[in-house]
Amino acid sequence: MDYSSSLSSLSFHFNSFRASANSFLSQYEPLLLLLAPLFSLILAHLLRSFFNLIHERGLKASLLGFLMSSVKLIPGVKSYIDREKQKVVDKMQSDGKSKREGWRTELPSTGLGTLVLEKMKEEKRKDVAWQGKCSGTVYIGGSEIDGHFSLINEACSMFAHTNPLHLDVFQSVGRFEAEVVAMTAALLGSQEKSSGGQVCGNMTSGGTESILLAVKSSRDYMKSKKGITRPEMIIPVSAHSAYDKAAQYFNIKLWRVAVNKDFQADVKAIRRHINKNTILIVGSAPGFPHGIIDPIEELGQLASSFGICLHVDLCLGGFVLPFARELGYPIPPFDFSVKGVSSISVDVHKYGLAPKGTSIVLYRDHEIRKVSHWPGHKVLGIFEAPTEYLVESGFVLFFRISCDPIHQFVAVPNSTYLSGLPMICFPFLPVLVLNSWYMANQWSFCSTGYLENTKTIMEATKRIQKGIEEISELYVVGRPDMTIVAFGSNVLDIFEVNDLMTSKGWHLNALQRPNSIHICVTLQHVPVVEDFLTDLKESVNTVKENPGPISGGLAPIYGAAGKMPDRGMVQDLLVDYMDGTC
Ligand SMILES: Cc1ncc(COP(=O)(O)O)c(C=O)c1O
Repeated sequence: MDYSSSLSSLSFHFNSFRASANSFLSQYEPLLLLLAPLFSLILAHLLRSFFNLIHERGLKASLLGFLMSSVKLIPGVKSYIDREKQKVVDKMQSDGKSKREGWRTELPSTGLGTLVLEKMKEEKRKDVAWQGKCSGTVYIGGSEIDGHFSLINEACSMFAHTNPLHLDVFQSVGRFEAEVVAMTAALLGSQEKSSGGQVCGNMTSGGTESILLAVKSSRDYMKSKKGITRPEMIIPVSAHSAYDKAAQYFNIKLWRVAVNKDFQADVKAIRRHINKNTILIVGSAPGFPHGIIDPIEELGQLASSFGICLHVDLCLGGFVLPFARELGYPIPPFDFSVKGVSSISVDVHKYGLAPKGTSIVLYRDHEIRKVSHWPGHKVLGIFEAPTEYLVESGFVLFFRISCDPIHQFVAVPNSTYLSGLPMICFPFLPVLVLNSWYMANQWSFCSTGYLENTKTIMEATKRIQKGIEEISELYVVGRPDMTIVAFGSNVLDIFEVNDLMTSKGWHLNALQRPNSIHICVTLQHVPVVEDFLTDLKESVNTVKENPGPISGGLAPIYGAAGKMPDRGMVQDLLVDYMDGTC
């Protein structure tokens, strides 16, 4: 067949198709024919969103969310749910509201002068007794007015006026940051050959900021390395909420993956979520809820094999695990000696025993950190800010000590020197002036100090764990690796036990999945381990003999929140609570 005959046959077929299609469509109204493609487009869009939702939230959660939204459309149901929600919020806030009477909302016309100190003392006296009673919270041991506390207070007052924006003036601060970062990095494998010898980092205002920076750096690094523009990260459900914030701030899709039966990151499940947009996976050493270390080596292998970043959250473990390992505890590898670890967050203000507001973010090499610099021009110069807050040359400058309810910011220079204190001085030397010889010598003292602390805290933790295991109504969640013990019960409402512990002055952390509470053991607890166990036994016995919520307790709220099938409702509840608070 030649070219012209095949063309005419094609034209014949087309014409007969057109004729039969037109005759078929002639039975429909032209307007309908016009609207049909539009409706198809909308339907396709809805289907796509629906499948995306199922992909993101899972079938069960999506159906539940849909069901809840539909139920709320029934007249009266929404207002009923809102009323019930308000009751819960009021209950959560009842205590706080009455305490707020008389709070200032405007600047006074006449200042109090130095009398303000009396006023502050008066308010401070109303704080509850926290000494030895709080899970985590205060990591430094002893009394507020002596020992390491008073050393820190003296150092704070020496540097309260410094402004690290002016490095030329406050050169001391520059040196302190560099030394603190280097010493911390050395603790976490920077001097091991396998680290690559290029570990670098910065001080930040806390674990959350360190994590935010690590995530942002990973995102930008993967964009420059692989051209990923729709980034995704995968974290175990046990990872800190800082990753949720990072995902929102930096527009990253977040996958939270269930942990395995030992409450560790499930490497296989994480692997299943990796795709061409994955920039980062995460492990904690240990995780906040159960104090269990994720399998960092396996995660490192996974990250290396896919060429993606791995962040290790050592906010809690950074100043404990190296020493626990030295003491002979079975600690699996967790730092830059593990291939594939690209960044680490480590809090100096937790077991590093620095004042609140100090943490470090470390990167395996300068390439990863490079992308997190915000170089810019001052009026007549060049500056650089590799951290979140108002910083320059890597120094944390401000932290908020008073922002609610009047959103008043009191800027307190938070010199990095303060973070250096426990490392430089802890626990033996009340000396604040450094020289290189001095540093070299102090460092060995400090290692000894941290080692002794770790020994004490680990032993206190093991005693607490054993004591809990001896209470037949309780069980310990997983196998705690460090200084956090989470425990639940198969026969009692653990949140009722928590309420009774609260009534005895303890401040523990309530957890879900499974319902449990935990204690993060610090130096503050060492002298009160037996008191804790006695109170716990008593509380368990009381709940056993007399189950049911106590007046003013939060057990029903925690219990209900744990059972709420629609997580959106829990979120709504928390938003309402916050709106009524500040
Ligand atoms: C494991 C872990 N990571 C990160 C953080 C966040 O630290 P920060 O409270 O200093 O922001 C915490 C806080 O408890 C934590 O336990």
